[in-house]
Amino acid sequence: MPTPNAEYFIQADVKNVWHHLTLHQGKAPMIAVEAEGLRIRDINGKEYLDATSGGVWCVNVGYGRTEIAEAACAQMKKMAYYAASGGNLPAIEFSEKLLDHMPGLSRVYISNSGSEANEKAYKMVRLLAYNGAKKEKKKILYRDRDYHGTTIGALSSCGQPERRECFGPFVDGFAEVPHACCYRCAFGQSYPGCKLECVKAIEDVLCKEGPDTVGAIIFEPITAGGGVIPPVAEYYREAAAVCKKYEVLLIMDEVVCGMGRTGPMFGYQHYGIVPDMVTMAKGVASAYMPISCTVTTEKVFAGLQVSGDRLAYFRDISTFGGCAAGPAAALENMRIIEREKLLANVAAMGAYLMEGLKESLSHPNVGDVRGKGLLLGMEFVVDKRSRQPLPEEKVIALCGEMAARGVLIGRTNRCFPEHNNVINFAPAYTVTRADIDAILTTLREALGSVLG
Ligand SMILES: Cc1ncc(COP(=O)(O)O)c(C=O)c1O
Repeated sequence: MPTPNAEYFIQADVKNVWHHLTLHQGKAPMIAVEAEGLRIRDINGKEYLDATSGGVWCVNVGYGRTEIAEAACAQMKKMAYYAASGGNLPAIEFSEKLLDHMPGLSRVYISNSGSEANEKAYKMVRLLAYNGAKKEKKKILYRDRDYHGTTIGALSSCGQPERRECFGPFVDGFAEVPHACCYRCAFGQSYPGCKLECVKAIEDVLCKEGPDTVGAIIFEPITAGGGVIPPVAEYYREAAAVCKKYEVLLIMDEVVCGMGRTGPMFGYQHYGIVPDMVTMAKGVASAYMPISCTVTTEKVFAGLQVSGDRLAYFRDISTFGGCAAGPAAALENMRIIEREKLLANVAAMGAYLMEGLKESLSHPNVGDVRGKGLLLGMEFVVDKRSRQPLPEEKVIALCGEMAARGVLIGRTNRCFPEHNNVINFAPAYTVTRADIDAILTTLREALGSVLG
């Protein structure tokens, strides 16, 4: 059934609402009205199976979680807000629980968005240099194809040229290292015979910039929007060794991967390393409330304050970092993940979805299938031999066809001049085999209809 007054809302949307990352095209997008589990119903009464967890990988425990809504509501009624220069009970309980899942890390700084969590990390790197012996150790390296947010500082560390285009000038003090996508190796090599030239290249950039000027490097553990790219098993261990050699901090941007999206609680935990800083946002409260965190080791925390210098401490505040409903929702979100053993389901259903997606490798336009847990991608090519990327319009058409058939999937959306050719699948952690079968059947039908 369409929503009463649907036509009025659609017209009012077109007239008044400015949609994110969308052309001004004078027509309303899908207007979501109700949702439960993995199902969304739109204003026209059409039902979709949401294989994107809310479009951008965040409603991780699925829709309709009254426990989270009630926890947030109860907290708002009891004590809605006090600035995070003070404390609140859910922030204390949530931080303790979060750190139980992050051995080696010990301090939680709460803010509102992924971009903001990364900006905090960048400010910490600069303050550590100010406080330390090597005053110039302020530059931050980032990787081609990674994304760290929308603010100008975060965009200055963005490895996706089309996301940056038109928004310069950018902030000084950032430099790019090559990506780690084996399917499109920047060095023309193939794994495992490659000796990880992509890591060697990090060291080269670092030395070119000057080790005494580089304070940190930031990675998405598995590049998400930039094409779902999990580096090979040894990549981060070797990168961490380079960081150690040059006293460079390792920041993991877990905004997408954090809170179990790829199987373990954090993406870096696939790789046997402990970062110096970890940022997270989307799945922290499964998007029921906006909350993000910048988590550091005790060493980083200690280095951020120097007694006797009245400015040498982390003079930073996030107004809404003091909203107590955020950590209340995040705490309940973590309890659900634990109680329902959802990480086991992420691993099992991720493997099942991966197996099904791999069957499509027989299609002439499917070049690669990759990812971990429930963050999986499929890369399209014009033909397998040349690996020439399929034009973005065709990928948009494929996603449109899937939506028309009732399944929402994601795609690399205007990030690169020519590599917007990856679709992605990131359903909620409660996804079942039957849901995955439905996603795969629709994919096969849509592939046949759009690409032949
Ligand atoms: C890896 C990563 N980092 C940071 C961000 C920025 O998060 P936000 O949109 O909450 O500012 C995103 C958003 O998509 C992201 O994917």
